[in-house]
Amino acid sequence: MQNFFVDEDIRKASTISSEFYTSETCFELSKEKIFAKTWQFIGDTDEIRLSGQLVPQTILPGFMDEPVLLVRDKDDKLNCMSNVCTHRGNILVENVCQENQIRCRYHGRRFDLNGKFKQMPEFENVECFPTEKDDLQKVPFGVWSKLIFASIKPEMQLEDAIGEMQKRLSFLRLAEYKLEPARSRDYLVKCHWALYCENYLEGFHIPFIHNSLNAAIDYGTYTTELYRYSNLQLALSKGGEDVFDLPKDSPDFGKQVSAYYYWIFPNIMFNFYPWGLSVNVIRPMGTSLTKVSFLTYIYDESKLDRGAGAGLDKVEREDEAIVENVQKGVRSRFYDSGRYSPARETGTHHFHRLICEFMNK
Ligand code: FES
Ligand SMILES: [Fe+2]
Repeated sequence: MQNFFVDEDIRKASTISSEFYTSETCFELSKEKIFAKTWQFIGDTDEIRLSGQLVPQTILPGFMDEPVLLVRDKDDKLNCMSNVCTHRGNILVENVCQENQIRCRYHGRRFDLNGKFKQMPEFENVECFPTEKDDLQKVPFGVWSKLIFASIKPEMQLEDAIGEMQKRLSFLRLAEYKLEPARSRDYLVKCHWALYCENYLEGFHIPFIHNSLNAAIDYGTYTTELYRYSNLQLALSKGGEDVFDLPKDSPDFGKQVSAYYYWIFPNIMFNFYPWGLSVNVIRPMGTSLTKVSFLTYIYDESKLDRGAGAGLDKVEREDEAIVENVQKGVRSRFYDSGRYSPARETGTHHFHRLICEFMNK
């Protein structure tokens, strides 16, 4: 694998080499180099409200496939731990349940709700046993209001990843947002995961690809703000309708904000609209296949299907069609990289720079 390089100065820079999208080796390496070290969105606290509840989750199924277990203990505290038995590696909890301990059904090893080893049959003469290695490993996790994040070996604090979004949107009543499964869905897109992300990271294509979205937002005022591991695209409304009712202490007070589009490196998008939130989790499935999960959280149903947050399914199909085309293009022997628009592609440049930083380590 080559050392990837994208110049810090967008005016001088070329986009990341197409090897990143085409190479199976890069795809495999990105698991440990990028995805194990960053934060993933793994659900919300509505699924785990009662003490003693055990909720098995998998970090990025089909890619990272890391089994973790969310537990609400007897003191009502949330824990996140490995869902793999420390004896011979059985998956401990397969379905949501409520228990006062964790018991492996393979050979009966038991743990308390904090993952501490408690007891194991037929282990009387085993030396140096039990040790800490027999406890379930803790998985770093954190909660923003009701949204739960976890990471395998985080290279940054959760706050470094989502802190800017948390601060800017502290006025939202996130605890009242409700996941609406009927309005959530998965899309299979025939492209590399990074192509899907970089398309999201620029509004440059909106006037070309999305006519209905272009009619709702004022493209001239569309801005991108970059942070260390995240960025924000701010879309203002054309008509002054279907905008956020912002408090005076918001830095955006007085603006007609129709959407906050937050992206968290490497693969999560939080799109806030006056009606609620659409979380997009981009799941790599192969160098040419990506599963995109749209999770819809509703706050104010009366505002659904209006403004920038309307017709998301149509916008999604328009994006899919174009990135599937780009997927074919980046595999061409005649293409390796291109240049950036300093006015319109700072988000994509930021993303490529982060990929280089993580892949080259
Ligand atoms: S694998 Fe769990 S007790 Fe043997
Ligand atoms: Fe788009």
